[in-house]
Amino acid sequence: MTAKLKNDLFLRALKGEDVPRPPVWMMRQAGRYLPEFIALRDKYDFFTRCQTPELASEITVQPIRRYGMDAAILFSDILVVPQAMDIAVEMKPGVGPWLPNPVRTPADVDRVVVPDVNDSLGYVLEAIRQTNEKLDGEVPLIGFAGAPWTIFCYCVQGQGSKSFDKAKAFCFTQPEAAHALLRKITETTIAYLKAKVATGVHAVQLFDSWGGMLSPEDYREFSWQYIQQIVDALKPVAPVIVFAKGCWFALDTMSRSGASALGVDWTVSPQVARQLTSGRITLQGNMDPARLLSPPGTIRQMVHEMIRGFGKNRYIVNLGHGILPEVPIEHAGAFIQAVKDYHEG
Ligand code: CP3
Repeated sequence: MTAKLKNDLFLRALKGEDVPRPPVWMMRQAGRYLPEFIALRDKYDFFTRCQTPELASEITVQPIRRYGMDAAILFSDILVVPQAMDIAVEMKPGVGPWLPNPVRTPADVDRVVVPDVNDSLGYVLEAIRQTNEKLDGEVPLIGFAGAPWTIFCYCVQGQGSKSFDKAKAFCFTQPEAAHALLRKITETTIAYLKAKVATGVHAVQLFDSWGGMLSPEDYREFSWQYIQQIVDALKPVAPVIVFAKGCWFALDTMSRSGASALGVDWTVSPQVARQLTSGRITLQGNMDPARLLSPPGTIRQMVHEMIRGFGKNRYIVNLGHGILPEVPIEHAGAFIQAVKDYHEG
């Protein structure tokens, strides 16, 4: 485990404590807008970067060294989980995730393995150890996983999609097999996140990037019940952040789940997000990532307005989704600096 943290603003915001200013980090902060990331990307392919603890830990600390965010997020991917479950995943340049043998039948579901995570995902745990050594207690480290529904989408569709029609068709025509797969993903994810916490991450975030593709009713059946199981299992050991993109309709339910914080995207105003959660939970977000293409002065104003909108307490400044690769590095810097310069009055 790590020594006492020098900067614990992020963990204090997750506990709901009063803070002098809100903490800040950016989804996908370890990524392609950084020249130092691109230098490594050009040398090693995507899953080599994920599977080599020296590289994954180095990429994780790159944005912290450059900007001094208040939390680091471990460089990895949500798709290492299906890989560990014996479902092949490739990252095709220009295409994104590519699963050559998608899960489409009950027999396919039966073949999916619930692995020993210490074994199959041991490289992630080693990356956590090496990252905490490099961070030396500077800031907390966030571990993450995809929500079962979002992982299911890739496993069944076989690639990214605008509609995830094949994934939905599987749910609506073969619900028993769909739930069997969702249960296997949930079981693996719980073991994986618990192992991450035991190894040294300070909080975990669940990414339900495709939750908003479902109607509220289908969301409850195919996504939310499994997220709730993960929150129940992880809550005793670490703060849990749930980021369910496009799921403003579920904010009230999610705010009663035992999660420590909820991520929100930019389609909801701070005031509406606070109303829907009755002010009872820490919120994280929610600037449109494309707004980092605005001039730095505008970014600064928008950050201050966003903090006033959410309030400085029970709030973690972030984007409403991952940072875009074409964002100029000075613009990302303006976003982080605006938060550090914030003071009330
Ligand atoms: O936030 C961080 O900095 C940590 C690293 C991280 C990555 N992926 C690295 C990555 C995190 C948290 C993720 C999560 C992830 N991966 C999600 C959920 C968050 C979201 O953005 O909705 C999803 C849906 C994936 C699946 C995935 N991985 C896609 C769709 C792609 C290709 C599209 C893209 O953005 O390029 C990836 C590849 C990927 N994962 C990259 C990075 C930095 C880019 C590819 C590369 O570097 O070669």
